[in-house]
Amino acid sequence: MRVGIGILGGGVVGGSLARRLLDDRAAIAEKTGLDLELIKVAIRDLERPRLFPSAYATNNLDEVVDDPDVALVVELMGGLEPAGSMVLRALMAGKPVVTANKELVAAQGPALFDAAASKGVSLLFEAAVGGGIPLIRPLTESLAGEKLTRVIGIVNGTTNYILTAMDEAGSRYGVALEEAQRLGFAEADPTADVGGGDAAAKATILAGLAFGVWVGSEGVYRQGIDGLDLRDLAFARQLGYVVKLLCMAESRPEGVSVRVHPTLVPRTHPLASIRGATNAVFLEGPAIGQLLFSGPGAGGEPTATAVLGDVIDAARELLAGAQVAPRILLGDRAVADFGLVPSRWYIRLEVSDAPGVLAAIAGVFGEEGVSIASVWQEGRGDEATLILITHEAEERAHIRAVVRLETLEVVKQVASTIRVLADES
Ligand SMILES: NC(=O)c1ccc[n+]([C@@H]2O[C@H](COP(=O)([O-])OP(=O)(O)OC[C@H]3O[C@@H](n4cnc5c(N)ncnc54)[C@H](OP(=O)(O)O)[C@@H]3O)[C@@H](O)[C@H]2O)c1
Repeated sequence: MRVGIGILGGGVVGGSLARRLLDDRAAIAEKTGLDLELIKVAIRDLERPRLFPSAYATNNLDEVVDDPDVALVVELMGGLEPAGSMVLRALMAGKPVVTANKELVAAQGPALFDAAASKGVSLLFEAAVGGGIPLIRPLTESLAGEKLTRVIGIVNGTTNYILTAMDEAGSRYGVALEEAQRLGFAEADPTADVGGGDAAAKATILAGLAFGVWVGSEGVYRQGIDGLDLRDLAFARQLGYVVKLLCMAESRPEGVSVRVHPTLVPRTHPLASIRGATNAVFLEGPAIGQLLFSGPGAGGEPTATAVLGDVIDAARELLAGAQVAPRILLGDRAVADFGLVPSRWYIRLEVSDAPGVLAAIAGVFGEEGVSIASVWQEGRGDEATLILITHEAEERAHIRAVVRLETLEVVKQVASTIRVLADES
């Protein structure tokens, strides 16, 4: 069966997809029985060289979505608008849509899923989290019968590249960022990556699929890597940890907690070995135990492979006349109050090395209900640094303790705090 395909966006991913549809048309038909015919690709700049022949290019988005020959729309422009309006219009016209746009899915997912369901077509977004890693389909289909308890991801290649360079080469944050930009792993404006915004959008999607709660990027507790000090990565290394920017969604009795922050990961944990721009998602559940998905989280070719898989599924849907995407069930579970979520902290203090210092500090933690798991001292006299790692206690108890530490005469400075992965494995 012939299926006409229109692509909105012909850049890194859209360009690769268009070329693959043209080059591999016969091979895909042989494998799947589907004749995927590229009809049009929308771009802004008609002069720029492309990975596909210019005869397919148009700078008119309507021309793609409204073309009667286009039965299936692929959105690869990025951003909220005009992508959102175009996706909605295609769905309302009864055309299945494939997108890689995490920002759009995180912000408008529930409304778009409703629109798709009302027309009996699918909105597929395998490439929106983890680029080329098959993740959305395992989460929504293969694991539909599992009661997942926790999802932990390294879902931003830029920050993982920077943190790996800081950890392994001892590069300072600014130097590692510049190198990432030079090699094309970071954008000229890296804010969305290093500030945790990109990971927060992906955390929203993962939490929605795993736990049925759509918090939106604004509902994710978020801290980026831009404030990290190389000294903390060095101390972490000495203590047997590596620092990663983790996104975490967890099902707790008080609700679902969704957060993104730098985290000390024990070097023995599978996520500690995820280096450079690689992405990984670690799932935990009572029946499956632990599952790790890892691979290329970005790049035109791997991402286009994930998009192409969705295109094939959506084309099968047109053939069968029945929606292929599993229903995404969103319930009314509460979002956990972040202050009540238990966590472990790494705390670096600059202190005076005098008798009674430890007792004063331990006293504050004890009064706030936080117990100390380990203490490490470096240097003596006025140059003393104290590193504490706590056992699990509520976030708000940690915050109260740190605020009080700052008022102690023996504490010159609370130099840094980083959360530690509570490893139940
Ligand atoms: N790149 C990756 O590795 C990767 C991985 C996973 C997910 N994604 C997601 O995939 C999507 C596309 O990313 P990308 O890296 O391919 O972006 P990109 O290279 O910037 O491509 C965007 C394309 O959209 C076109 N476009 C943007 N606004 C338009 C408008 N108003 N009218 C017509 N065309 C318009 C651009 O046209 P011009 O070329 O003329 O500017 C360009 O061809 C994003 O949602 C991104 O988050 C990307």
